[in-house]
Amino acid sequence: MEFFVTSATPARQRTDCAIVGIFDKGELSAAALDIDARIGGSIARLVKRGDIRGKAGDLLLLADVSGAACERVVLVGLGSRTSFRRKQYRKALAAALTAVARTSARDVISYLSLDAVPDADSYALARTAAEVAGNIEYRIPDQKTSNKRPKSTLTRFGFGAANRTDRANAERGLEHGRGIVIGMGLMRDLANLAPNVCTPTYLAGAAKTLAREHRSIRTTVLGEDECRRLKMGSFLSVTAGTVEPAKLIVMEYRGGGRTDAPIVLVGKGVTFDTGGISLKPPPAMDEMKFDMSGAASVFGALKAVAELELPINVVGVIPACENMPDAKATKPGDIVKSMSGQTIEVLNTDAEGRLILCDAITYSRRFKPAVVIDIATLTGACVVALGNHLSGLFSNDEALSEALEQAGKRADDRAWRMPIGEEYAEGLKSNFADFANVAGREGGAITAACFLAKFTDGLRWAHLDIAGTAYVGGSQKSSTGRPVPLLVDYLLNQ
Ligand code: BES
Ligand code: MN
Ligand code: ZN
Repeated sequence: MEFFVTSATPARQRTDCAIVGIFDKGELSAAALDIDARIGGSIARLVKRGDIRGKAGDLLLLADVSGAACERVVLVGLGSRTSFRRKQYRKALAAALTAVARTSARDVISYLSLDAVPDADSYALARTAAEVAGNIEYRIPDQKTSNKRPKSTLTRFGFGAANRTDRANAERGLEHGRGIVIGMGLMRDLANLAPNVCTPTYLAGAAKTLAREHRSIRTTVLGEDECRRLKMGSFLSVTAGTVEPAKLIVMEYRGGGRTDAPIVLVGKGVTFDTGGISLKPPPAMDEMKFDMSGAASVFGALKAVAELELPINVVGVIPACENMPDAKATKPGDIVKSMSGQTIEVLNTDAEGRLILCDAITYSRRFKPAVVIDIATLTGACVVALGNHLSGLFSNDEALSEALEQAGKRADDRAWRMPIGEEYAEGLKSNFADFANVAGREGGAITAACFLAKFTDGLRWAHLDIAGTAYVGGSQKSSTGRPVPLLVDYLLNQ
């Protein structure tokens, strides 16, 4: 998708389709008035007839519009003007674009940004628009041999800006939105793949491809022998039950100065989580192909950063493996030694994410990082706590936590701070090793974070538990692309 800004008046700007808003009680937006004046008042007549009332979600497509320079007009309800915010703007635009995508229009211009949105400037409106438009075009990399959902004909998205200064901000917004949506697309492609396709070896190949596409990225892949030499006993214990070789994938993006400390993103890359010997029950087990969403989000963030050529250094570290039951698999009660030297009693082999992340976090120390952020579909308990709307955010650093929380707000990809602390870590006590990999059932997202915190001494660290936000389950099963928007917003502000 190509993005552009236009500041011509809606009635005069040539396009296959113009998107204009109607507020509730039939109040025409600025762009609707402008076009209506050119087409003899037919919009006002439709409103008067009650064909569209302006309630949020209302939608009407006018074809054969003569008088104005646009071929079609999509009228979209915006709800009440006083409660019109970025959230309503995003929803209305998504509804309108979904309708446009079903037509044969090749380009579209949204004028929803010409009326004031109190909680957004033109930068934010344009960035949101690019993200929405790009995601509408997303198609799952399915293996259907018939009834494939066709790609839409839309190739250009225009953003209506009011004036000159608006224009510069909007252009920046579109560009950043383009980066975000490309990153989300890569994340979604990887996470949506079948688990017999997307193995650790496949992810390693994808990392090499990324390095081939961007000179600013260098990829290194460590195999199991190298991980053994690094004494990653915890990571290796998770891969013990599978024939798929585990990989430690390292992607280094250099956009900043030689001596600038990098931001390290550590992504959980369990390409399938059966639970291991602590086997999961069958219902929805297929969704555990999404257990590499943290890793996929790191790919997405790095792709966006490289597309946008951000002047910072970012390193992605991805421990990738399968968690399978087998004669050689790790058993409950096994004790393993992590790269940090600390010993762990594995009481539940289904708590495998923390076992691979702890060694990856320890490994990340070699980059002398400014901060380390790990991203993981870590616990079902986080989904119980926060549902599917917000990611869990844990940190040992106030400023970092605050920055990530704000990034999530700006990006409409929010995270909610949760506590960590001695009280919670208590449950991890073991009388056979330094600690166990699980505590009791209660506060499970927090005790998981407390486990990780044991490996972060002296690091500025944050942990995002994305178990509830990274994908949609059930019949509409699909990766959401989250938290790429949050991560890219955070990186844009460094
Ligand atoms: N990958 C799961 C977490 C998960 C659950 C993600 C549901 C998305 C949806 C993780 O490896 C896991 O199995 N965690 C266990 C931890 C428990 C054994 C302490 C869980 O959440 O049940
Ligand atoms: Mn598990
Ligand atoms: Zn898992």
